[in-house]
Amino acid sequence: MTHMTSPKQLFVHELQDVYYAEKSLTNVLPKLAAEASDRELTRAFQSHLKETQKHIVNLEKVFKNLGESAHGQPCPGIDGIKAEHDDFRRAHQTTQPLSDVFLTGSASRTEHYEIAAYTSLIEKARALGERDSVKLLQENLKQEKDALKKVESISKRILKGMSSDGPGRRSTSRRSTSARSTSARSTSGRSTRKRSTTQRATSTSRSRRRVSS
Ligand SMILES: [Fe+2]
Ligand SMILES: [Fe+2]
Repeated sequence: MTHMTSPKQLFVHELQDVYYAEKSLTNVLPKLAAEASDRELTRAFQSHLKETQKHIVNLEKVFKNLGESAHGQPCPGIDGIKAEHDDFRRAHQTTQPLSDVFLTGSASRTEHYEIAAYTSLIEKARALGERDSVKLLQENLKQEKDALKKVESISKRILKGMSSDGPGRRSTSRRSTSARSTSARSTSGRSTRKRSTTQRATSTSRSRRRVSS
């Protein structure tokens, strides 16, 4: 266990964490590109791989600005996202479109992780007065945000295609039928209650008429 006392030490620690994450993603992204069957998704993974290589170069410049040597340290966060992907693959066989939707989810989780990491690093770099490093980290952050938007829009498109031609639509229809019968039951319940209230009122009024006559 090390004794950490300064924001700079924490900054370096987080830098090593994201450096490890980016390096491991250069191994993961080609596999995701090969797994994808949707062309736009494959291209998105391939182009993000090039960006990821640039992220590593930018991080190495940040290490240099701090007078530190660039090295990573195992990041359980990114390893966990990867393990989640691998576990799913071992446990499930899916259709190709569903597999692509699954991949967009794995990619989104990764981008969210990186976005959180860079946002936190930028705050610290700013506080430490590391202006050049802030710019380098912001470049990376912007590309992570753009990559997230891209996979989210691909996911929406694929899901839309699936819901217009398959089980998605049937299940919506089942839900509607069930909702309709629930609604019918509830309406019928209300009508019954309404009828009994009316019947009670009529009978009370008849009894009153009998008493008054
Ligand atoms: Fe990245
Ligand atoms: Fe990324």
